[in-house]
Amino acid sequence: MCGIVGYVGPQDALDVVLEGLRRLEYRGYDSAGVAVRVGNGASGELASAKKAGKLANLEKVLADQPLPSSTIGIGHTRWATHGGPTDRNAHPHLSADGRVAVIHNGIIENFAALRTECEKRGIEFSSETDTEVVAHLLAAAYDEAPAGVDRFAEAMRAVCRRLEGAFTLVATHADEPDTVVAARRNSPLVVGVGETADGTPEYFLGSDVAAFIAHTREARELGQDQVVEIDRARGLTVTDFSGAPAEPKAYTVDWDAAAAEKGGYDWFMLKEIAEQPRAVADTLLGRLGEHGELVLDEVRLSDQELRDIDKVFVVACGTAYHAGLIAKYAIEHWTRIPVEVEVASEFRYRDPVLDRSTLVVVISQSGETMDTLMALRHAKDQKARVLAICNANGSTIPRESDAVLYTHAGPEVAVASTKGFTTQVVACYLVGLFLAQVRGLKYEDEVAAIVEDLRALPDKVAEVLEQMEPVRALGRSLADANTILFLGRHVAFPVALEGALKLKELAYIHAEGFAAGELKHGPIALIDQGTPVIVVVPSPRSRESVHGKVVSNIQEVRARGARTIVIAEEGDEDVVPYADHVIRVPRTPTLLAPVVTTVPLQVLACEIADTRGYDVDQPRNLAKSVTVE
Ligand code: G6P
Repeated sequence: MCGIVGYVGPQDALDVVLEGLRRLEYRGYDSAGVAVRVGNGASGELASAKKAGKLANLEKVLADQPLPSSTIGIGHTRWATHGGPTDRNAHPHLSADGRVAVIHNGIIENFAALRTECEKRGIEFSSETDTEVVAHLLAAAYDEAPAGVDRFAEAMRAVCRRLEGAFTLVATHADEPDTVVAARRNSPLVVGVGETADGTPEYFLGSDVAAFIAHTREARELGQDQVVEIDRARGLTVTDFSGAPAEPKAYTVDWDAAAAEKGGYDWFMLKEIAEQPRAVADTLLGRLGEHGELVLDEVRLSDQELRDIDKVFVVACGTAYHAGLIAKYAIEHWTRIPVEVEVASEFRYRDPVLDRSTLVVVISQSGETMDTLMALRHAKDQKARVLAICNANGSTIPRESDAVLYTHAGPEVAVASTKGFTTQVVACYLVGLFLAQVRGLKYEDEVAAIVEDLRALPDKVAEVLEQMEPVRALGRSLADANTILFLGRHVAFPVALEGALKLKELAYIHAEGFAAGELKHGPIALIDQGTPVIVVVPSPRSRESVHGKVVSNIQEVRARGARTIVIAEEGDEDVVPYADHVIRVPRTPTLLAPVVTTVPLQVLACEIADTRGYDVDQPRNLAKSVTVE
């Protein structure tokens, strides 16, 4: 997500910060900004510049109106979450008195209440961001903090104690000539400790080490809920939010700059696979309101309009379409509204029956896929309501929709979607619950119980990721396969389709996903001696013995010579006699299982492609965002 850079040292801060921001560009962003502290002695000023678009736009502003030179600076590349990607919403945000500048990565969940509180004190906000409240609160807390060496850090601690959600914050103050303070909860922040050729100490802050790797490899990792004060003379002081001293973990970075951008992973895709626990958690952040009501990001529909909905279409392309197939199971089960799922490129050409009481849910990671956009416009022309599930804030699809749920997964760089998919699936569950709630079909406590199950998913995904070594080894052994088949039933059927798509996209191997029950109606003829068949097994607790039927399907393919690779829940011993390989996943409620079972399939496809020597991040013939029909 957002890129963060901070600097305290003898060099020109603006140069260091801009260079750091350039190295963080890979994270994806839609606006950028910097602030420096200028002036001699205790009373100085802040100077800042910010601009929507790429860093080049900001550099043009700085060329026209240069900032004074300084040795303390902060900089930010913003991936829009709250508020569109505009000049005003770009960071840094300044307090009303202009004495504090703040940059932020994350989402402050209780910003609305804090904003109201500031407005009551007469503060006028100049942006739509959740971040700006921090600038105002920090300025007030600084004025109230006892004068002393750690006044600024104390003010930051006081503010952090009031914040809910995820945040990395870095701030400068006009009255602090030697100090930058920063804090983190749930979002990343690392400190770089270096010295210039003449031995003068210098300190860096970054959302990851790529921000300062050109200057130093000595880093300090901050723990959860910690504040760091960086002072030119006193160096680093780390405390928790209550002020108790803490020891940051020191380590030496052994990556070069290119590896640092990928967080040390060989491919962006691997990094994005590993980011899924965080990304899923971010999709869920702040979704339950004060009274247990589900909260989307934007809703321009009345409750009555939502209650009138009697038909849902889910429309998307590629991987997002597979998320839509999973949505059907959840939305129909929770709302009893009929749901149809369709690829966007087909949707409008068959003249679907749409009217005011139809809800069209469009799913798109990029928010720019032309097929999906055209389907959306067709739906709107027919007076249907449109709800978008998107990752890229400020993109066209959410802008043209009546309601929006952002997945907050952060930028996805690899062409093959991974965290984009799992967060879309989670967003689909939220939409299902939202509709059920609005229509009075689910009590607040029922919704809260399912949201609890959803909140357990990040840990489950992390558990799967910890056990991927045997899956990688299996991937290497499958690299010479000509055909690989994927089977699943119920919600595992779309997972099988997604597993096959990943393999096609990345490894250029013929792969097909089937509903396991359809096997006997044709596809079983494809099975030859040694054909790898990957079976995604539903939970043994799933209804109507779906589980038992899939176990029979495994036996059927094995009897015809298939090499069976089975993804099954921990404790599911029924599959063992018929599986050549078992990949275990944690116990998960039936409907939510795709978020967990998809992960090994992503790893498998990545490993097979890598073994075959292909570019995992940029597969041949594919584009990340397809803006033609
Ligand atoms: C392209 C990508 C796919 C992606 C699809 C939909 O085909 O290669 O990975 O799933 O577009 O993208 P969207 O941004 O709309 O989710």
